[in-house]
Amino acid sequence: MGEKIPQAFIDDLIARTDIVELINSRISLRKAGRQYVACCPFHSEKTPSFTVSLQKQFYYCFGCGVHGTAISFLMAFDHLNFVEAIEELAQQAGMVVPRESNQLPDTSHRKLYEVLSFAADFYHQQLKVNVNQNQGRIKAYLRERGLSRSIVAEFKLGFAPSRWDILLSNTQLSLRPYLKEAGLVIDRDSGHCYDRFRGRLIFPIHDYRGQVIGFGGRLLGGEGSPKYLNSPETSLFHKRRELYGLYQVRKSIRNYEKILVVEGYMDVLSLAQHKIRYVVATLGTATTSEQLTRLFQMTSQVIFCFDGDRAGQEAAWRALETALPLLKQGRQVQFMFLPTGEDPDTLIRAEGQVAFESRLEKAVPLSEVLLNGLQRKVKLDNIDGRVHLIELARPFIAKIPSGVYQDMLFSRLAEIAQIGQVSLARYLRKSEIPRQQLNCAIDMDSPVQKMIAILLQHPNLIHIIEDSFSLQGLKGVELQLLQSLITLLRSNPYLNTASLLEHWKESKMGQQLRQLAIRELFLTDNDMILELKAAIACLQAQAADDRMEVLSNRPVLTAEEQQELLILLAAKQSNKHIL
Ligand code: GTP
Ligand code: MN
Repeated sequence: MGEKIPQAFIDDLIARTDIVELINSRISLRKAGRQYVACCPFHSEKTPSFTVSLQKQFYYCFGCGVHGTAISFLMAFDHLNFVEAIEELAQQAGMVVPRESNQLPDTSHRKLYEVLSFAADFYHQQLKVNVNQNQGRIKAYLRERGLSRSIVAEFKLGFAPSRWDILLSNTQLSLRPYLKEAGLVIDRDSGHCYDRFRGRLIFPIHDYRGQVIGFGGRLLGGEGSPKYLNSPETSLFHKRRELYGLYQVRKSIRNYEKILVVEGYMDVLSLAQHKIRYVVATLGTATTSEQLTRLFQMTSQVIFCFDGDRAGQEAAWRALETALPLLKQGRQVQFMFLPTGEDPDTLIRAEGQVAFESRLEKAVPLSEVLLNGLQRKVKLDNIDGRVHLIELARPFIAKIPSGVYQDMLFSRLAEIAQIGQVSLARYLRKSEIPRQQLNCAIDMDSPVQKMIAILLQHPNLIHIIEDSFSLQGLKGVELQLLQSLITLLRSNPYLNTASLLEHWKESKMGQQLRQLAIRELFLTDNDMILELKAAIACLQAQAADDRMEVLSNRPVLTAEEQQELLILLAAKQSNKHIL
């Protein structure tokens, strides 16, 4: 689905959002001079170093360096992805997010949500009726699995009786046409439909906002197949994207130090019941990078839980391969292997919370799982084996984004393979592994950077730059950036710092722009204008010099070129007098 949100909408949204109000509704801000301050919500501290600028619509923490716009604040604080953050802001601003390819039948989506929510209520009701009847199988089953009333209520578990059309016949006529698209009924050849879920305990699957998007259903007792039945893929339900229990995690805890990924719905419930709330389950598939990306928006530490058996080891290896490209600085992936024959549900019921969490403490870091796994395939007591190890490791290391993590793994590999790091680097031609550019320092002596910084922080000063100002002739990435900044501001003079940053969010320049936005300029309004003018003059002189050089080096000049050269020379002369 092409769901691109138009940039103009994002501009408009940021223009209507007040970051101070937004942040103040979540943590309490205090006015201090021109800024607002608070203790940073993203690291722990006793004296406030988190600042919010009303004018820049930007926040910055002097303690830990986090910074960004209203959008990135919501992403970080509410653990939302970009689109979700936009939706949240739009809702607050009373706006509807338009999509560039807006062919989505919105009304039918609304109907799908409606019918899914109805079904969840219906199944939940059926469960309650069954439990209250007191002789029901369901009550015995819940007891046997040790599920309390409050967990049943929180996760809104349900029961689908063993009838062919109980859901169908209880659905109001206007919603029935949507049952099939929602995956709740199956079409028989004859055109008649019957309920998909029959005789099963029902686990509603919620999206991050708590809307029901699908279901899992488990047979009561051990017989029959399949043991678990899930909703099929629908326009709302994508197994590879969603995580069971994510909504409940978001609702029940604020700061997620870590998130545990397990395999079964029942594991999530059982752990939650034993007060381990930071748990989600995949929906019967291996963990995808979409799911992992989503988790890393919420936490920096993801722990996978697998069986200790062979299948578990293989599943861990798959998860490891998925995780490698996502191992940016500060992120951690660990693996917890359970004793054979146990799953988190059986283990927590046998051992309790404390023992389970102390196992969790001993989870194995990804690097160790990787290197151990590779070492098992080779013999390290001879050179051939060690070379083989390096060869095996090469593709894995190359998948990790460069940075401390890659470096550490690299030095550990050198240690195991008993080779010096320099030789190993030479051997792997490490330079082929692209290095991420380090935070570029800002050179305030550079007129380009200075102009970018001033315009970024005071976009209204665009009017100082005359229409005739041109950077033609000058080259360089930064100049291009400055040029686009000027062009953008000329056509949208109302943009503020935050919306400008959002324009370059995706590009390599984004990082540098954010640094420039943070940079304290220590200039009065008047000086700012003077600095800007000086930078313009400097750039124009530079452009003129470059042009003169080009012209002077030409063997023959046209009449116009001669004229141009004369004008340039004259201007240079008069500038000398001024400077
Ligand atoms: P319990 O037996 O209820 O404790 O479930 P479990 O979670 O321990 O089951 P298991 O380890 O067998 O399965 C883990 C997860 O895999 C389940 O939560 C389902 O998502 C999925 N799964 C298991 N069996 C089936 C099946 O037969 N069909 C499908 N589609 N998924 C299954
Ligand atoms: Mn189980």
